[in-house]
Amino acid sequence: MGLKGRDLVSIKDLTKDEIESIISASRKHIPVAEGKRSSNLLDGKLLALAFFEPSTRTRLSFETAMQRLGGRTITIADPAVSSVSKGETLSDTVRMLSGYADAIVLRHPNEGASRLASQVAEKPVINAGDGAGQHPTQTLLDLATMDEHFDTLSGLKVVLMGDLRYGRTVHSLAYALALFGAHLVLTSPPALRIPEHIRADLHAIGAEIQEEQDLRKAVHDADVLYVTRIQKERFGDLAEYARVSSGYRLDPKILDEVKPSFIVMHPLPRVAEIPSEVDTSTHAAYFRQAFLAVPVRMALLSLILTGHPGPGGGS
Ligand code: NCD
Repeated sequence: MGLKGRDLVSIKDLTKDEIESIISASRKHIPVAEGKRSSNLLDGKLLALAFFEPSTRTRLSFETAMQRLGGRTITIADPAVSSVSKGETLSDTVRMLSGYADAIVLRHPNEGASRLASQVAEKPVINAGDGAGQHPTQTLLDLATMDEHFDTLSGLKVVLMGDLRYGRTVHSLAYALALFGAHLVLTSPPALRIPEHIRADLHAIGAEIQEEQDLRKAVHDADVLYVTRIQKERFGDLAEYARVSSGYRLDPKILDEVKPSFIVMHPLPRVAEIPSEVDTSTHAAYFRQAFLAVPVRMALLSLILTGHPGPGGGS
């Protein structure tokens, strides 16, 4: 597999085989991610983390992944203290970073920012979220979570719930799930339905999609419920946000009627959409999902920076 030196801007940049290889490589990184073994696979490598939007898990798991593999990071975590606040353009910042580091992880409020960055950078650019666009590395860890739990990715019935309009995680995930033949059930407030261009992409690869407003019906024979946060920061009108988000909350009672193997996922952060009482349920998978961010990003970085998947891998 040739991921060495490649950008990852959209999940569409990866084939199904490439996605499978990253997930399978990630499993072998788990002992190192847990600190039970050590590795120096990325010794001497430097990763630039350029975050122009808030982040906890994404930035820290990239940082953890690099450090667990003996690599290092440089970071813009607060644009207010970088030259962006002096009016520097994204292209100039990215060009400069590509001279310093071996790859760049970019999070930016503008859709298309990572594509632009990948055109000006001489080093690989990894999209860590571009506005309401894409979040492909989140998708890799979401799929790894499902694969670990079900021991397969084929034929799952997955309910995508919440902000399907602005939620970049579901934009990437829906596409990848469709590649694996999932049956997708979309459930969202009417104002937050999935954008037409994403729907068109899904149809183009033959996705099986259903819309269902009644969550109880939607989860009835489903395998996964993927809950998302209403993306407050993407609303021009906060009154509109308040209107669509009020009462948006998973009723734990629906878990009484699901399959035993059913899991609830969430990319996190959650606000109020999953009550904390769900956390102790055997169906809650979101903290395992957050942990798997580390081995998945370890596998991805190893492949992009060295061409090697990591422990015990081929080429
Ligand atoms: C998501 C994001 O930033 O798109 N968070 C994440 O990366 N885990 C989801 C969100 O912010 O709601």
